[in-house]
Amino acid sequence: MWKWIVIASFVVVGIVLYAAVSVSPQYPPSPVTGPIKTEVQDFTAFSEQIQLGKQLYETLCFTCHGLNGDAVPITPEALNTQVGDRIYARDFTGKTHMNEKVVFKYTWGGFAGEFASDEELKYIIRHGLYGTPMPGFDDLSERELDALIAYIKTFNDGWKDYQPTPPPDVKVPYDLLSEERINRGRELFLERCIACHQDQENGAEPVPQPTQWYVPGTDSLIMITSRNFLTEPLRFPEPENVYRTIKVGIGGTTMNPALWADFNDDQIWDLVSYVYYLKNKGRNKSNETVASN
Ligand code: HEC
Ligand code: HEC
Repeated sequence: MWKWIVIASFVVVGIVLYAAVSVSPQYPPSPVTGPIKTEVQDFTAFSEQIQLGKQLYETLCFTCHGLNGDAVPITPEALNTQVGDRIYARDFTGKTHMNEKVVFKYTWGGFAGEFASDEELKYIIRHGLYGTPMPGFDDLSERELDALIAYIKTFNDGWKDYQPTPPPDVKVPYDLLSEERINRGRELFLERCIACHQDQENGAEPVPQPTQWYVPGTDSLIMITSRNFLTEPLRFPEPENVYRTIKVGIGGTTMNPALWADFNDDQIWDLVSYVYYLKNKGRNKSNETVASN
């Protein structure tokens, strides 16, 4: 009798050991499903990221970008700016764009690129866009930024096949603010840019332009004033970014680089110099006003 019990226990132990080693060593033996469990875990991790992104979005972003990502603001008055126009937030669904596309204004890679790269989205979310209601969220962790971006991408299927164009090479010239560059930049500006920006140096006001987005819920296009470099901050103020903006344009707006496609890279830098010259001139003027008061 005892002999049979001992033999039976060996058989049971043998079966258990066999079952344990026959499971791939990559996956710890699991009493339930073995390898399938891992897929379930990956899926859980994925949806946890989206879940975190949703939570952050619905705390930090939805009032301006809309609960469904369509830029229908919960608090429209938060979108008024000091320079007059209301600036609507980006529509992540494409619903309010006239071609039903998702178009980001700032895509380092190219004007034709409708989507921005993750790297760039992180930059914008961290820094914000100066002179607009879009605040910077510089205390978000890398994990939180990844989660937010993953969640934003759920608003439009186009992200699935999207490959961002690599940004153009940028090397700031050593003589960026030299008088020669500024003078060359002024000439180019007066030739090609004043149609919209006007001769600001001599006091003219930039002209309002239609964008490619509708005022949410209406069929009128959102108007935006082309930048006044003397009185308004640049959204993307670093020289590298001003260069990229002139080179690739601002998506969804009339600021379209096809209009100066014949300018070479050095001429683009001349224009960056002149834009900086105007910006500094504006700052000096306001300093003088403060000093004389
Ligand atoms: C107070 C309002 C407000 C809040 C809150 C806000 N945004 Fe924005 N956001 C804007 C506005 C306005 C713009 C458009 C600026 C422009 O058109 O120049 C914008 C633009 C953007 C852009 C697009 C930039 C481009 O190149 O087109 C991204 C991405 C973005 N916001 C992400 C976020 C995320 C993520 C959050 C939350 C963490 C957030 N925003 C919170 C107002 C807001
Ligand atoms: C057809 C109209 C038009 C022309 C021509 C034009 N722009 Fe613009 N530009 C705009 C508009 C509109 C904006 C503002 C877009 C916005 O804020 O959404 C703008 C914004 C800018 C900005 C601001 C970027 C920032 O970070 O805030 C720069 C720099 C700029 N333009 C430079 C130029 C230069 C240099 C030229 C000439 C080579 C030029 N633009 C020609 C319409 C134009």
